[in-house]
Amino acid sequence: MQRLRLRLDPLRETLLLTLYARALDAGLAHPILGDAHSAGIADAIDYDFAKLDLKPSLVCGTALRAKKLDEAVRRFADRHPDAVVLDLGCGLDTRVLRCDPPPGVDWYDVDFPDVVDLRPRFLPDRSVRIGADLTAPGWLGPLPRDRPAMIVAEGLLPFLPGDTFQRMTRELTAHFRTGELAINGYTRFAAWSMRYHPTIKAIGITAAQGFDDPREPETWDAGLRLVEEQLLARAPEVADFPQPLRAATRLMSHSTTLSRQGTRVLRYRF
Ligand SMILES: C[S@@+](CC[C@H](N)C(=O)[O-])C[C@H]1O[C@@H](n2cnc3c(N)ncnc32)[C@H](O)[C@@H]1O
Repeated sequence: MQRLRLRLDPLRETLLLTLYARALDAGLAHPILGDAHSAGIADAIDYDFAKLDLKPSLVCGTALRAKKLDEAVRRFADRHPDAVVLDLGCGLDTRVLRCDPPPGVDWYDVDFPDVVDLRPRFLPDRSVRIGADLTAPGWLGPLPRDRPAMIVAEGLLPFLPGDTFQRMTRELTAHFRTGELAINGYTRFAAWSMRYHPTIKAIGITAAQGFDDPREPETWDAGLRLVEEQLLARAPEVADFPQPLRAATRLMSHSTTLSRQGTRVLRYRF
C-alpha cells in the first residue's frame, strides 16, 4: 500500500500524536477504546511515529478520555435527536464513526482548512467539514442557531493561545441557544509540564495553557455551568491499564489533587 506523506506544521502535527495513541491502544490485548479506524489511518500515513516514543500513560490516557468524551456525545445525541455536534480541533479523529450519530443529528468537524481537507483521504464522508482558525471569529455564522449543540474539544485547550479558548467559548454559547461543552481539562501544572514532555518537545510545541478549578470556566461570561468533573484515574477502565501504570494510577486516584493532574473530562451546560 502507498502510504501518504503529510506536510504539517508542529501545531497540526499534534493530531498524529493523538491518532497514534488511539492506534496503539487498538493493538493492546485489552484496548480501552479499541478504535481500529485510527489504527488503519495511522498505517496509511508515511510518518516516523516511533519518534513520538509514546508511553503507556499517554496511550491509555488518550484512549480513555476519548472514550469518556464519546460517551458524553452519545448521551447528548440520545437525549436530543435534532442535535448538532461540533468536534473542535478534530484533526483526523474518527469520533463521528465511533459515535455513529442517528440521522437527525448533524455533525461538524472543525479544524484548520488544510487539516479538514485531509479527512476525506482517510475517512468516510460522515460529517460536514469546517476549515477555520478557531482563534478567529466568523466561522460559526452558517451554523444553525436553534438546535441543541454538543461541543466537544479534545486535546485543543493547551494549543489555543492567551484567552482565545475563552473567547471562542463565549462566541459558541452566544450562537447556540442551549447545549453542552465537553473537554479534557489540563491543570496549569499539567499544561506547563506538557512543554517538557518528550513527545511534545519532539514536535516542538511551546504554547500551553490550562486551569485548576473545574469551575473556572463558569467565570468566563459564557453562561457555562459545570455538570461533571470526571477524574479518569478513578475510572473502572483503569483495571485494563498495563502494569505498572495500573498500580501507579490507582495510587494516584486516592488524591483528588493528584488525580486532577492526570486525565480529566469536564462537562458544562449552557
Ligand atoms: C492534539 S490535536 C487533537 C486532534 C483531535 N482532537 C484528536 O483527539 O485526535 C490538536 C488539534 O487542534 C487543531 N488546532 C490547534 N489550534 C487550532 C486553531 N487555532 N484552529 C483550528 N484548529 C486548531 C490542530 O490542527 C490539531 O488537529
